[in-house]
Amino acid sequence: MNLLIMGPPGAGKGTQAERLVKELNITHISTGDMFRAAIANGTEMGLKAKEYMDKGALVPDEVVIGMVKDRLQEEDCKKGFLLDGFPRTVEQAKALDETLKELNIELDGVINIEVPMEKLMARLTGRRVCKQCGASFHVIFNPPKEEGKCDACGGELYQRSDDNEESVGTRLNAYMEKTQPLIDYYKKQGNLKNINGDQEINKVLEDILAAVK
Ligand code: AP5
Ligand code: MG
Repeated sequence: MNLLIMGPPGAGKGTQAERLVKELNITHISTGDMFRAAIANGTEMGLKAKEYMDKGALVPDEVVIGMVKDRLQEEDCKKGFLLDGFPRTVEQAKALDETLKELNIELDGVINIEVPMEKLMARLTGRRVCKQCGASFHVIFNPPKEEGKCDACGGELYQRSDDNEESVGTRLNAYMEKTQPLIDYYKKQGNLKNINGDQEINKVLEDILAAVK
């Protein structure tokens, strides 16, 4: 199954993606995670991406599109994939359509997680992420069993450098301006599945699975 998950920053894309890829045995492709890995490895692309990400701005289309095109051709995508955080602009969506056509792949569904805008700031400023496996927690809404430690692998939890009020404000604006138009783009293609993301994490997962199966 080939899926795409979208929604504003903090909607729960990563939280649901972690669970969905296990449930459906598909590969998780998160462009945000790919950039964070590139930053950690100190690559040239990472350095370039960091300038944009810390401010909360989008990384330029030409950088992202090439990276995803290469990633989709790797062996582990053959069993199916879940794209998280890509596409984020109409340009990226068009490039994805072209790439999928070239590779003879079809998207089985586009999951759009809906959460009221006023709830996103608290979700993001309280988020903690595992340094080791990338699992996402929240100090109030989804606390780890032991403070500062990942439930899944025991790794150390940290706060993302773009999870501060200023960067989150810029990210929410970038979403409204550049990414929200994609809802209409995919609605026209006929495979959009709107999901209420303002519910308990397991209930959101249940609704997504029911919508894609
Ligand atoms: P990216 O890493 O994709 O960040 P984002 O889109 O801002 O989304 P987040 O990861 O912040 O939110 P999420 O929806 O995954 O929420 P999560 O599940 O963690 O991108 C980062 C940056 O990289 C961008 O700003 C940009 O610079 C660059 N970039 C990436 N892709 C790009 C692209 N295609 N083009 C250009 N630039 C790109 O949940 C958030 C919190 O809420 C957690 O604490 C979680 O525990 C909690 N939570 C989750 N679900 C619930 C629930 N149901 N109830 C209560 N709390 C919940
Ligand atoms: Mg995420």
